Amino acid sequence: MTSRSQTLSAAGQDSLLRIRNLSVRFGTSPEATRALRNVSFDLGREKLGIVGESGSGKSTLGRAILKLLPPIAQISADRMQFDDMDLVNASERNMLAIRGSRISMIMQDPKYALDPTMRIGDQVGEAVALHLKLRGREKRRKVLELLESVEIRGVERVYDLYPHQVSGGMGQRIMIASTLAANPKVIIADEPTSALDVTVRRKLLILLDKLVSAQGIGLIFITHDLNLAQDFCDRLLIMYSGQVVESLKAAELRQARHPYTQGLLASLPRLDLDLPRLPVMMRDPAWAKDMETAR
Ligand SMILES: Nc1ncnc2c1ncn2[C@@H]1O[C@H](COP(=O)(O)OP(=O)(O)O)[C@@H](O)[C@H]1O
Ligand SMILES: [Mg+2]
Repeated sequence: MTSRSQTLSAAGQDSLLRIRNLSVRFGTSPEATRALRNVSFDLGREKLGIVGESGSGKSTLGRAILKLLPPIAQISADRMQFDDMDLVNASERNMLAIRGSRISMIMQDPKYALDPTMRIGDQVGEAVALHLKLRGREKRRKVLELLESVEIRGVERVYDLYPHQVSGGMGQRIMIASTLAANPKVIIADEPTSALDVTVRRKLLILLDKLVSAQGIGLIFITHDLNLAQDFCDRLLIMYSGQVVESLKAAELRQARHPYTQGLLASLPRLDLDLPRLPVMMRDPAWAKDMETAR
């Protein structure tokens, strides 16, 4: 048991989020997809990577925390605690207050998050007015400062642009700038860099990293890219078939114990080995069974 509680909580006292036995089912019939099964973890002021193949439940996990799942989803959890708030029993009104201000979500494609009919400055300005209650020149000054903080150059010019006039990477940073107006404690980023090219991706990662270290934000970084997660994150949760099959420090990934994690590692291209071909991953049906006894 000690090893289990240790892996759950690298964060200790400083936990921002505590999740215990979170399960999500899409539908009520016995055949309904069990998208999450007894997921438990803590998040501290750290970069926590959620890694797993497509369909393993990563996005469902991110959305379940914010209760942003469609009505068909059945959520249950022994505990979902953010700060001193109980998210399991929080009303929709409380969730509205939490979403976008205390816990923010960054999506893969900023196009859906930015309003195409509104200038960038006015959009970030709305967040500034809402969360910081600033108006007029003070509001404008704060918007420019936020845009600068996400390393956008020529902020005066960008202020007057519309979303379609900026690149995907800049759209992503603008979204983060408006998120920051609310001073969030937790950011959930769902595949935030998959639509970006390599150099833009690097910039975004450096920015997210700064937010964690300078502002003490807890970051949940969802990705299917094990290499990226290993390089960028402090700790990783490996998901398979709706379950966390392994939880470990990113630096200790090579010592992974679960055969699924080992399989993922073995199928990564390596420059230091001259393998004729990459091994094909084998799966054991037993991994998809409930993990309670296995842990
Ligand atoms: N709205 C939904 N209705 C029914 N099933 C869903 C819905 N959203 C996700 N699922 C199912 O839940 C499982 C996990 O999906 P998801 O969390 O999107 O995985 P990932 O983000 O890891 O690719 C998948 O089997 C998916 O088909
Ligand atoms: Mg997903």
